[in-house]
This record gives sequence, C-alpha cells and structure tokens, in this order.
Amino acid sequence: MSTLTKVALGVMGQLRPRPVKGGAAAAIKLPAVNKRGGLPLMQALAKRRSSREFARRPLPLPALSGLLWAAFGVNRRGGGRTAPSAINAQEIDVYVALPTGAYFYDAKAQRLRLVAAKDLRRVTGYQDFVDEAPLDLVYVADHRRMRMVPVAQRESYSSAAAGAIAQNVYLFAASNGLATVIRAWIDRSAIADALGLSHDQQVVLSQTVGYPKA
Ligand SMILES: Cc1cc2nc3c(=O)[nH]c(=O)nc-3n(C[C@H](O)[C@H](O)[C@H](O)COP(=O)(O)O)c2cc1C
Repeated sequence: MSTLTKVALGVMGQLRPRPVKGGAAAAIKLPAVNKRGGLPLMQALAKRRSSREFARRPLPLPALSGLLWAAFGVNRRGGGRTAPSAINAQEIDVYVALPTGAYFYDAKAQRLRLVAAKDLRRVTGYQDFVDEAPLDLVYVADHRRMRMVPVAQRESYSSAAAGAIAQNVYLFAASNGLATVIRAWIDRSAIADALGLSHDQQVVLSQTVGYPKA
C-alpha cells in the first residue's frame, strides 16, 4: 500500500491489519541464541545505518531469536537485560509483527506469545516498505512499571530506553547482514488498537528489519 493511501486511511482511522494466511501459532519457542557469532563491535558500528529497501524473504527463527535477544533479552542472572532502563524498570515491551501474526516477546522464556492473529505489519507505519518487510518491531512503554519515575520524566526515560533497544537492533543487523530502520512516523492509536493495548501502554517507536533488497 502506498504511503499516501496509508496516510489517508490513517486520517480516517481505517488503517487496519490484514488476515494471516493459515493459522497463527499461539506461541513460538525461540531457538537457543548463538552468543558467539557476529562482527566485532567496531566493525558493526562502522556498518550501522538506516535502510528503507527490504527483500520479502522471511527471517529464519534462529536469526529472529538472536535479534530479539540482542534487542532486549535477558543477559545475566537476576533478569538483567541487554539494554538499560531507568531504575531498572524494564518498561519497554517488544511486540513482533510477522506475516503470521503479532506477538509479544517474552524475554524471560525466550518465546513469542500471540497477541493478534492478524498480519499487522502495514499498521506499524506510514511508509510503504513496512507492509512487505518480514518483520516490524513495536516498542511499547508500560507506564505501570514506571511508578517510581517522576511523572514528568516518564516519556523521556521510556524513549531513551526504546532508543537503546533500537540501537541494539541496528548493531545486530549490521553484524548479521540485515537491513533496519527505526521509525517514529507511525499511527500510534492504530497500532495500539491492533495490538489491543491498555491505556497504560504507550506506543513509542517502531523498527523494520529484514534482508536488504538485492
Ligand atoms: C527518533 C527517530 C525517529 C526516526 N523516524 C524515522 C521514520 O519515521 N522513518 C524513517 O524512515 N526513518 C526514521 N528515522 C531514521 C533517521 O532518518 C536516520 O537515522 C537518519 O536519517 C540518519 O541515517 P542513518 O541512521 O543511516 O545514520 C528515525 C530516527 C530516529 C532516531
């Protein structure tokens, strides 16, 4: 769908998900993460960039598992994560829009839990490439976990936390031959509706990931 059509549908509140082909799995167990692969950090930083052209090729599960772990996985005893958060509130949830359904990333169990049996990719942004790229992530701040953060700081802290996650994804992508772009030009209420979010949950950013277009 073109960007223009999406903007028009967005104005009318009509930017809607597509049905999935076949059934959506209720849960997806992600395979063990390979923590040894990838480029050295300085080489990954040298390759980091935003891309807006994606192949349709799906991401294999091991790549998806590694990507999500790099994004905001549990990386130590006690539940610490790969990205920081103010007072360790861990307020950002990562939602995963795949052609086969929309999922919540359960970092502790390293698995995906179905939240909507729909293809939500087109709802995750106004730009046309989000519809066909194999993966759109959505970063959602859960304000219920930020009760210890002063109200005036909650948005900026959760934006910083989502930004750290996004950069992890950029570095994983650079390190693994993937393309990605973080996006703020999104219809937050359409995404919240499609994911069935509560009033305490705030859509912060979205990020597309896939193989670069040949
Ligand atoms: C908060 C934020 C929001 C952004 N929103 C969008 C967006 O909606 N769409 C897009 O294509 N790029 C978006 N970008 C990506 C920037 O355009 C990109 O990072 C910038 O042009 C620099 O390019 P580089 O990432 O390749 O260095 C965003 C970046 C940030 C940090």
